[in-house]
Amino acid sequence: MADAAITVEGAEKTYGDKKALNGLDLTVARGTVHGVLGPNGAGKTTLVRVLSTLLRPDAGRVEVAGHDVVREAYAVRLRIGLLGQHAALDEELGGRQNLELFGRLHHLGARRARARAGELLERFGLADTGRKAVRQYSGGMRRRLDLAASLITEPEVLFLDEPTTGLDPRGRAEVWSSVRSLVGGGTTVLLTTQYLEEADQLADRISVVDAGRVIAEGTADELKAEAGGDRIDVVLRDAGQLGAAVALLPLTGIGVDADRRLLSAPVTDRMEALSGVVRALHEAGIEAEDVALRRPTLDEVFLHLTGDDRRVKETA
Ligand SMILES: Nc1ncnc2c1ncn2[C@@H]1O[C@H](COP(=O)(O)OP(=O)(O)OP(=O)(O)O)[C@@H](O)[C@H]1O
Ligand SMILES: [Mg+2]
Repeated sequence: MADAAITVEGAEKTYGDKKALNGLDLTVARGTVHGVLGPNGAGKTTLVRVLSTLLRPDAGRVEVAGHDVVREAYAVRLRIGLLGQHAALDEELGGRQNLELFGRLHHLGARRARARAGELLERFGLADTGRKAVRQYSGGMRRRLDLAASLITEPEVLFLDEPTTGLDPRGRAEVWSSVRSLVGGGTTVLLTTQYLEEADQLADRISVVDAGRVIAEGTADELKAEAGGDRIDVVLRDAGQLGAAVALLPLTGIGVDADRRLLSAPVTDRMEALSGVVRALHEAGIEAEDVALRRPTLDEVFLHLTGDDRRVKETA
């Protein structure tokens, strides 16, 4: 793709006998947000380290912003920003001081560094934090400052490795809105996440990664459609009847969430499933609090793609 900001073809990286990247392919169009979604150990951080020239791939072709990450590593570094899983801020300094320091480290010059710090603080809602030291920041503020730091050089391509891991819902929402504000500026963003909702919220396209390979790629809607259409949710009044209901309902692939007294299953014919469930429950005298048809969540898409049925019970 001529207007690709990131091209990865057959990337491999082995640690000992562990294939962290096992023939990974990826194309990201300029000016888009691309989500790389995968569980612990899928190879997300390894991919980001390869893309950001911190790690050499063993094999494959990897280009970022039009340059090869191995042969033209310096050219790549000039054009990228990186927000790692663990960021490097000076705890004792304030946000503004941290950003100015970052700017100076990137050879911006005092004046330019000060101006850029001011712009970024404004943009990420940190302008009125005054001289408060970073150690007093909330998790969400800290991540927004990390994000600001990664943008100090106005990168063409920005890598965010699990930008909201460990944040509470409010902090996560703050970071999401900051990421959205980048997109208008034309920056290409590659974002890794274990949160399906995060990819759904932010990414134009999503690559689902497992064991060092891309196992599916598309928009959130495409992935949901691929996972097999609609689902039915049944909430029982009495959790003690979950087992009986599973045995008698005219459904296959039923997931159970005992805490929520919930049964969930894929359906092919919506109306037939709905009437079949209602009738079966009625005949068995099992009371339902709610019966509803809905689109699958990305969690279910992911479980479907990875075939990881152990987790169905937690997310159904
Ligand atoms: N430096 C290393 N030495 C040996 N093995 C490693 C090293 N770094 C990663 N691995 C292994 O490579 C695989 C991919 O790791 P990676 O950190 O890329 O996964 P990840 O998708 O980022 O996971 P997480 O969601 O936990 O951050 C894992 O099995 C991991 O144990
Ligand atoms: Mg990681």
